[in-house]
Amino acid sequence: MVVNLDDGFQFLVRKASISSGVALAGYRDTYLRRRIDLRMKAVGIDNYPTYMKLLDKNPNELTEFLNAITVNVTEFMRDKTPFMFFRNEILPEIMERKKKSKSNMVRFWSAACSNGEEPYSISICSKEILPADWSISIYATDIDEDSLSRASKGIYSKEQLKNLDSSIIHKYFEHSGENFKVKSIPKLSIRFMRHDLTSEPPVSKYLDVVFCRNVMIYFNDKQKVKMLNDFYNSLSDDGYLIIGKSETLPEEIRDSFIPVNVRDKVFRKAL
Ligand SMILES: C[S@@+](CC[C@H](N)C(=O)[O-])C[C@H]1O[C@@H](n2cnc3c(N)ncnc32)[C@H](O)[C@@H]1O
Repeated sequence: MVVNLDDGFQFLVRKASISSGVALAGYRDTYLRRRIDLRMKAVGIDNYPTYMKLLDKNPNELTEFLNAITVNVTEFMRDKTPFMFFRNEILPEIMERKKKSKSNMVRFWSAACSNGEEPYSISICSKEILPADWSISIYATDIDEDSLSRASKGIYSKEQLKNLDSSIIHKYFEHSGENFKVKSIPKLSIRFMRHDLTSEPPVSKYLDVVFCRNVMIYFNDKQKVKMLNDFYNSLSDDGYLIIGKSETLPEEIRDSFIPVNVRDKVFRKAL
């Protein structure tokens, strides 16, 4: 790729580095550009000099900017309790309901799945709770191809598995040098795909649960409403939406989702 060196990017990075004290020079330029471009898109700016003016004018934007750089931070069973609720309350409820309608199929979407920890967590919880003959299908999407490539490889360090019990690690991972690789069983149910939540239509319909955690914080209200409307349309009538613990639904879409668990930010589609 030919990069225009005069587009103000290097100057922006140097200045932001000095203002924030974060050594941005340590990051790859292609990575930084992608992250900064996403943040600029979220605030409706399409060039580096204009974005730098915003950084100068608005100190909060520097925080948002830094968040944008560390944007794909994620963990297995992130925040723990939403996944406990998924495993202990949502999955048994779905199972009972589906049994009544003679179905043994569940469908989930991990929207903005980053490096894969979230969809693998969903898969592991599902394998632990649902009968072995049930079909589990998980769409795992992200805008970032590098993240998706890491996710589909499914290789993690010991430190990255710190939230998982050793029995779960033993059951679902195998050694890969010094690291651990997801065994094929949970991997098989996951379909990794590139998808932009702010501009593309939803990946599927009749989903039982949509996880969309810790990405909405980077979006403006219009983008959030577009995305949440898409989730509404992609969920089955009894479907659940799980957002990040620090996230809230914008006022104008609040009626579309009924809170089920306020602490863990679990909602159900309103009919
Ligand atoms: C902080 S991570 C969240 C990962 C995971 N959901 C979690 O809660 O741990 C945010 C992810 O959102 C992705 N992302 C940012 N903008 C996006 C967009 N417009 N569409 C889809 N994914 C996006 C980033 O690439 C990043 O992987």
